[in-house]
Amino acid sequence: MNETSRIYVAGGDALIGAALRERLRANGYTNLVGEPPGEPDLACPWQVEDFFAAERPEYVFVAAGPSGGIRANQSYPARLMRDNLLMTVHVVHAAHHHGVSKLLYLASSCSYPRLAPQPMRVASLMTGPLEPTNEAYAMAKLAGLVLCQAYRRQYGAPFITAIPANAFGPHDDFSAEDSHVIPGLVRRFHEARCCGQAEVRIWGSGSPRREFLYSRDLADACLFVMRNYDGDKPINLGGGQELSIADTASAIAAVVGYRGRLSFDTSRPDGMPLKGLDAQPLRKLGWTPSTPFRTALAETYDWFLRNIVTQENRDARKAV
Ligand SMILES: NC(=O)c1ccc[n+]([C@@H]2O[C@H](COP(=O)([O-])OP(=O)(O)OC[C@H]3O[C@@H](n4cnc5c(N)ncnc54)[C@H](OP(=O)(O)O)[C@@H]3O)[C@@H](O)[C@H]2O)c1
Repeated sequence: MNETSRIYVAGGDALIGAALRERLRANGYTNLVGEPPGEPDLACPWQVEDFFAAERPEYVFVAAGPSGGIRANQSYPARLMRDNLLMTVHVVHAAHHHGVSKLLYLASSCSYPRLAPQPMRVASLMTGPLEPTNEAYAMAKLAGLVLCQAYRRQYGAPFITAIPANAFGPHDDFSAEDSHVIPGLVRRFHEARCCGQAEVRIWGSGSPRREFLYSRDLADACLFVMRNYDGDKPINLGGGQELSIADTASAIAAVVGYRGRLSFDTSRPDGMPLKGLDAQPLRKLGWTPSTPFRTALAETYDWFLRNIVTQENRDARKAV
C-alpha cells in the first residue's frame, strides 16, 4: 500500500471506519474512495458491484455491518445477522471480482465460544457454543471470517481477518439503550449529571470483564496488519485495558463528573463472563496500543459533548 493507492473504508462514518479514515490520512494515504456520504448501500449487490467497477479500490477495510450492545443483540438479532451477512458477501465477492490487492475484514470477539479459555486464542474459534445473547450477530461475523478464508483457499485472494477487542471513541453510537457499554454509560452518566440524578442503574452484575481498545489505537492496528500480516488465520487486535464492567463504569463516572450512586440490575443479562484477547501474535509482529485508558475516555467524552446534536439526530432517525 503506498500513498497513491486507492483505498476504500467500508463503514467509514461509524466508530472504527471514521478512526481508520483519520489514521490513513495522518499516515499520508489520501486517495480514499467511497467516503461518506458517497458509500453504496452494501446490502444491495448491484450497488456494490457498480461501486467497485467505477472506483476500482486497491485496498479495502471492511468495517461495515451493524453491531450493538446486549440490548441491541436481543432486540434485533435478525437484522444484525442478515445485514452483516449480506454486506460481507457483497463486499468480499466484489473485491475478488475486481482484483483488489488486499482486503482486511473485521470480525468480532463475540465470535469466540462463550467459555473459551482466557485470553482467547484464535485456535479456540469454533470449539464451543457461542454466547446466547449475541449468537446471531456472532455467527454472521464467523461466516465472514470463513468466507475470507474460503476466497483465499479457492482463488488465492489476499484477504485477511482481524478480531478487534471492544472498541470505543469518537463517532460511536451514544444512544442510551442500543449502544455498546462505554458510549451507553457516557450518555447515561452525562444525563444523570445534568439533571442531578442520585443513582444510575447498570445492566447486569458489574462483574463481567471486558478488554477495551481506543478506536484510534484500533485503527492504527488495522493499518499495521494491512501492511505487515498476510495469513490465512485471523489475528486478534488486542492489548488494550481489561476491566470489570463495575470498574469501567466508575472510570467513566469520574471522567464525566457524575458523583451519584452506581447500582447493578442483576435481573439483566451479563453476557460473556470474560472477554480478553490473546494479543501475543500482534505484539510479536511489533504492535502495541499507545493511548492510556483515561486519556481515551476523556477524548471520547469531549467528542460526545461537541457532537450531542449529531447523536440526537441519530436517535431521531432510529425512532422513525
Ligand atoms: N465497535 C466494536 O467494538 C467492534 C468490535 C469488534 C468488531 N466490530 C465490527 O466492526 C465493524 C464496525 O463497527 P463500528 O462499531 O465502527 O460500527 P457500527 O456502529 O456497527 O456501524 C456499522 C457501519 O456499517 C454501516 N452500514 C450499516 N448498514 C449499511 C449498509 N446497508 N450499507 C452501507 N453501510 C452500512 C453503518 O452506516 P450507517 O451509520 O449509515 O448505518 C456504519 O458505518 C462492525 O461490522 C462490527 O461488527 C466492532
